Amino acid sequence: MDSYIIESIKKKSRMPARLDLLQSGTGLILGVFIWMHLLFDSSIILGKGAFNFVSKNLELAFLSDTGQGFPIAVFFAVLAIGTLFIIHALLGVRKFPISWKQHRIIRDQMQMMNHSETNLWYIQVVTAFIMFFAGSVHLYVMFANPGTIDPYLSADRIVSGHMWPLYLVLLVCVVLHANIGLYRLCMKWGWFAGKDARKSRLKLQKLRNRLIVFYLTIGILGLLVFVVIGINHKDNVGERYAAHATAVEQVQELEETRESEGIQAVEETQELEESQELEESQELEESPAVEESPAVEESQELEETQPVEEYHE
Ligand code: HEM
Repeated sequence: MDSYIIESIKKKSRMPARLDLLQSGTGLILGVFIWMHLLFDSSIILGKGAFNFVSKNLELAFLSDTGQGFPIAVFFAVLAIGTLFIIHALLGVRKFPISWKQHRIIRDQMQMMNHSETNLWYIQVVTAFIMFFAGSVHLYVMFANPGTIDPYLSADRIVSGHMWPLYLVLLVCVVLHANIGLYRLCMKWGWFAGKDARKSRLKLQKLRNRLIVFYLTIGILGLLVFVVIGINHKDNVGERYAAHATAVEQVQELEETRESEGIQAVEETQELEESQELEESQELEESPAVEESPAVEESQELEETQPVEEYHE
């Protein structure tokens, strides 16, 4: 009787369908967020300046007079994404194999059927389990340090803060989970089904695989660039990119003024030398006439006196 009552409640309840809808909705938002997140994050491949530009704009720096941005914007973004992440995970746990026995049954059935969609479902379960821990750590770090999204501070966190192994595992899991998840959503709710369901399914599978390759490539490349920056910046951990850029600018300005002062000094000494040379040459031109005259006068005197003396003799 009891089981009959429970069964009849189960049948009438719309709760499972609503929870499914909620899981799909949160999954859709998180999946699109991850697409954007990894694109923005990989701007580091284009250089520190590009990443700084992207992160400052996401911190709404264009609204501030100082151009500093508002870390509180990141705080609320993490709060919102973190809440969706937890809701999505809790809804997902309903479908987890909760004992070793259940797990074994699923594995055996998978081997027996070798059905690609069931295999995908298993990948979703495993990646979700890993992301539950790795994603929580990452979200907590961002939640506690919302003002530290910066090419140098992020690279320092990845290398000197030893976060790179966690990011690598999280990256692989999140790329698989997000893209397989979005593909499954399309299948489940019949999005982009078109006239020929089989054809559109194949197209979606192709798109899913390409997106996985694309996001894994830019994610790993971005992580590598962060690692290189972090290794080179090991001696200056905690220094911000903006502070570094201003310091570099100041040094460049100083060098430029020194250089221009040096050029001026060289020009001045050259002018001085030239004027001195000019003066000397002028003096030289004038002086032989003056110096020559006594000699000439003397010789003339001599010439004049000699015949007289001769005459007297
Ligand atoms: C609003 C929430 C989030 C913010 C503000 C955020 C911010 C960041 C930042 C700044 C980085 C660069 C490294 C660093 O500075 O530590 C990063 C990397 C990463 N994030 Fe997030 N994150 C958020 C949510 C998530 C979520 C929910 C996931 C997945 C569960 C995730 C997965 C990753 C991965 C895999 C990387 C490494 C990407 C790479 O360079 O290859 N993030 N995140």
